[in-house]
Amino acid sequence: MTRPDFLAAAEGEPASRFYDIIVVGSGIAGLTAAVGAARHFKVALISKSVLRDTTTFLAQGGIAAALSEQDSPELHMEDTIRAGAGLCDEEAVRILVNEGPERVRELMEICPKFDRSGGDLVLASEGAHSVPRIAHAGGDATGSEVVSALAQAMRQGSRVQVLEHEFVVDLLTDGGRCVGTVSLNLRSGEFTLNFASAVVLATGGCGQVYSLTTNPAVATGDGMAMAFRAGATVSDMEFVQFHPTGLYSDESPIFLITEALRGEGAYLLNHAGERFMLGVHPQAELGPRDVVVKEMVRHMQGAGQEFLYLDATHLDCQMLRERFPNVYDTLRERGYDLCKDRIPVAPVCHYMIGGVKTDVWGRSTLPGLYASGEVSSTGVHGANRLASNSLLEGLVFSDRIVRDLDRYVASLGERARPSQVQLPQPRGDGNRPSQLAENRRRLQKTMTAEVGIVRRDAGLLRAIREINALSASLEPPGASLEEYELFNLLGIAGQIARAARLRHESRGSHLREDFPARDDAAWRRHINFSVRNKEDGGPAERGEPGGGNR
Ligand code: SIN
Repeated sequence: MTRPDFLAAAEGEPASRFYDIIVVGSGIAGLTAAVGAARHFKVALISKSVLRDTTTFLAQGGIAAALSEQDSPELHMEDTIRAGAGLCDEEAVRILVNEGPERVRELMEICPKFDRSGGDLVLASEGAHSVPRIAHAGGDATGSEVVSALAQAMRQGSRVQVLEHEFVVDLLTDGGRCVGTVSLNLRSGEFTLNFASAVVLATGGCGQVYSLTTNPAVATGDGMAMAFRAGATVSDMEFVQFHPTGLYSDESPIFLITEALRGEGAYLLNHAGERFMLGVHPQAELGPRDVVVKEMVRHMQGAGQEFLYLDATHLDCQMLRERFPNVYDTLRERGYDLCKDRIPVAPVCHYMIGGVKTDVWGRSTLPGLYASGEVSSTGVHGANRLASNSLLEGLVFSDRIVRDLDRYVASLGERARPSQVQLPQPRGDGNRPSQLAENRRRLQKTMTAEVGIVRRDAGLLRAIREINALSASLEPPGASLEEYELFNLLGIAGQIARAARLRHESRGSHLREDFPARDDAAWRRHINFSVRNKEDGGPAERGEPGGGNR
């Protein structure tokens, strides 16, 4: 039995629990996996907060799928691959778009609040989609409606034990496979060993590595960090997607103004009041995110400003209020009238494209460990995710994981049994809360300044050195959530910066000032990290050339 290497051996017997399947995380990917797996297995779903405290819950836009007569999986595939800037895994995309419509229809059976008009689904337009294809619920409240419906479905089944306020510190491995998790009860301070035949990571992204993000405070890259420590490969870590229209403010998280508003005809304006996306891309404001963000940066720099404007004042006010009640009301609370005011917006960290490398069944490179949703790198997003493909990815690949679990569990001989494992204990006094907060703030500031939208070698090197210095200034983590989160953030930030430094080109969401061109000959490939090549500056594994090979 391999214990997490940063946990000290200690006196005493561990408390243990036994399940068939452990799911970590409660967004669309985690809930879908838990509901599905519970049909055959005894399942635990572990959340470090409460079920609704996820990025999915905040999702406004909706779920992309070929659901209308004017659409087709082939068209959805073309759009996804075009947006992905040469790095999509075509097999994974084909699965996403072909299985997506059925998964969304199944979801609609348990979530009746998808918006309809005269019985027909209302489908929205978003950036880089060639037809309206975004199904949404409650106007701009898709995420909360979907999470509520899935959570209710899960609670109706008796085979899922929900463990809230329980932080998964690390994965347990035995004989080269994942056999469970170590978790810390955030209320009692007790550690528990949770054994299972397989673990499904659905912990979401890592937006908290940046100062300004649409991600909730819980998005600290825990799943990616623990998978890496356990020996799984992570991939594409340099690809962090910035969303064009975060509300310009210093709030945390930043309030997102959904792309669907531009889908209804809202404009992006520069400080001279001009629509600067006209002529830049045939779809103007609805061009792919990377194209829009790049142009926004140019105009912000030109004007010496940190924001531009989103303008919906020419649109019908009643439509805006009915279609975007959440955006309308939230802006009202911040002193803006969507019907009358130009809204200050800026690109803001929104989505981690990279993550735990998986195959098309959600299997990581560590047997027994699966990953789904934002924590994973299935290859469907390439270097630039197509809007509203992320909820779909969670639905489709969690469903595939559920199907593969039957096979995997049946293939196991003996169930994992605890050997002589000792309870992890805090080392010494741990780290002072004020130091943890200061280090987290410094990390976020460095990542925003040096590893943000536009990157260059000197800045990336400065960031790597600062991340190393911050890590070195800390004692090993004790028993607080803040410590574990900070260690995870530092680990993930280091991987983002190192991968960004290695990729000598600009592609999709990765923009290098010193390598402005896309270089397919050298870089149409993935950067993978695993424990074998984790040393800073060490060689990264590279996938084979071609978007389809990972
Ligand atoms: C949005 O509503 O603009 C976000 C959709 C997404 O990021 O997929």
